Amino acid sequence: MTDKIIIFDTTLRDGEQSPGASMTKEEKLRIARQLDKLGVDVIEAGFAAASPGDADAIHSIAKIIERSTVCSLARASEKDVRAAGEAIKPAKHGRIHTFIATSPIHMQHKLRMSEDQVVERAVQAVKWALEYTDDVEFSAEDAVRSEMDFLVRIFDAVIQAGATTLNVPDTVGYSIPLLWGERFKELIARVPNSDKVIWSTHCHNDLGMASANSLAAVMNGARQVECTINGLGERAGNASLEEVVMAIKTRRDVFTCDTGIDTTQIVPTSKLVSSITGYPIQPNKAIVGANAFAHESGIHQDGVLKHRETYEIMRAEDVGWGANKMVMGKHSGRAAFRARLQELGIVLDGEEAVNAAFARFKDLADKKHEIFDEDLQALVSDEEAAQVSEHYRLVAMGAHSETGVLPVARVVLSVGGKETHADAQGGGPVDAIFKAIEQIAKSETELLLYSVNNITSGTDAQGEVTVRLTKGGRVVNGQGADTDIVTASAKAYLNALNKLHAGTERAHPQV
Ligand code: KIV
Ligand code: ZN
Repeated sequence: MTDKIIIFDTTLRDGEQSPGASMTKEEKLRIARQLDKLGVDVIEAGFAAASPGDADAIHSIAKIIERSTVCSLARASEKDVRAAGEAIKPAKHGRIHTFIATSPIHMQHKLRMSEDQVVERAVQAVKWALEYTDDVEFSAEDAVRSEMDFLVRIFDAVIQAGATTLNVPDTVGYSIPLLWGERFKELIARVPNSDKVIWSTHCHNDLGMASANSLAAVMNGARQVECTINGLGERAGNASLEEVVMAIKTRRDVFTCDTGIDTTQIVPTSKLVSSITGYPIQPNKAIVGANAFAHESGIHQDGVLKHRETYEIMRAEDVGWGANKMVMGKHSGRAAFRARLQELGIVLDGEEAVNAAFARFKDLADKKHEIFDEDLQALVSDEEAAQVSEHYRLVAMGAHSETGVLPVARVVLSVGGKETHADAQGGGPVDAIFKAIEQIAKSETELLLYSVNNITSGTDAQGEVTVRLTKGGRVVNGQGADTDIVTASAKAYLNALNKLHAGTERAHPQV
């Protein structure tokens, strides 16, 4: 058994299944480049059969990623596996991850298949996948509620068929560490040739134990952990990459194994994923939350000043805190701007895109003197949002609020190329702006979430706004950043409307 833990990141697949977190191809490419820099071993880039857009994004990621293995999910059907195989074709290292449910409740009610049929389909899916790559992963969906004898039978069959990684998912986040560890111990002991494959754990966080369960699996022989940045994912999310990696690193005495992650890239990756998906990070989130290394009580502060390890088990700089040095300002030129984007792994498509981003940078530098890496990331996100499809474009806006007077707002929008304006009153300037936009758009959407985060510190920081809208069962997140949060709010609202208008969000892979 090796002492290397394979980190399989599924932010771009399971993470993307968080409501409204669906990403454009460009956004996925930016995250994939950053995941490669972070040092993840496998990037699950999407689910090729879900939509042509998904397949295209995986294909594009497979073309540019050199070091990490690029993987596509596929149900155990010929159509899915072949779509995955085509999507990963350009990859230097490509993997197909095929799955079928193995629990009685799923087999009976969802698949309506017998145990024999499920085993036969799993074996067949692995064989189809082997036509494209010899790196084939098989998952027994809902393994947590599957019968042990049946799991042993199906895992034995797929090993014989040629699967190289066997994934055991706690699809519904039901397990607890003790039982999850025992499940791995028993599987590895009972499945013939279990030492010829990598055992993998994939845990959901419904009871808040995804990371703990994953680590229990590692202690009992799992050598691959499936996880996501910031614990993003279906419902309550997946195991957090940052928690699993830092637990293994900090408690090497317990785990006696290691990952290949460059931990100094954890915080920049977390911020990038949060900014692209519009999922803010709670301040007290382990490792990547703003308070994770902040000592508030006098006793703690005194202790840390006297001897850091009194209250700190990890060093903030080891996970990438403090890396947001001031990079540029008003006087920085195009060459410096381009060089910094390159260092951040941001590739803009052609000279025109660089010019447009540079113009935005200059505008921002006029309002805000110190421009940090996070500002540049937000600026590029804004630029990409503008590229998606600007059916609704903000031409101009104004809002007025004064003590004792109802706030008013005016917007001028270009709708499908035609300019129009509206005025509205609201409970606050943001409410008034949204009402004015709605007078024009008449979108009949419901606002599910409105949140504002400061990208960096200080009162001149850009506010990053997320607006989540829903209509007819579809959910989208819109983002906007600006030093003026009312403008950022209008941008975010329009970004969400544009996404709904373009209809680019992806289907749910497990349906
Ligand atoms: O949670 C789950 O079971 C999954 C599988 C597709 C691996 O995401
Ligand atoms: Zn999952």
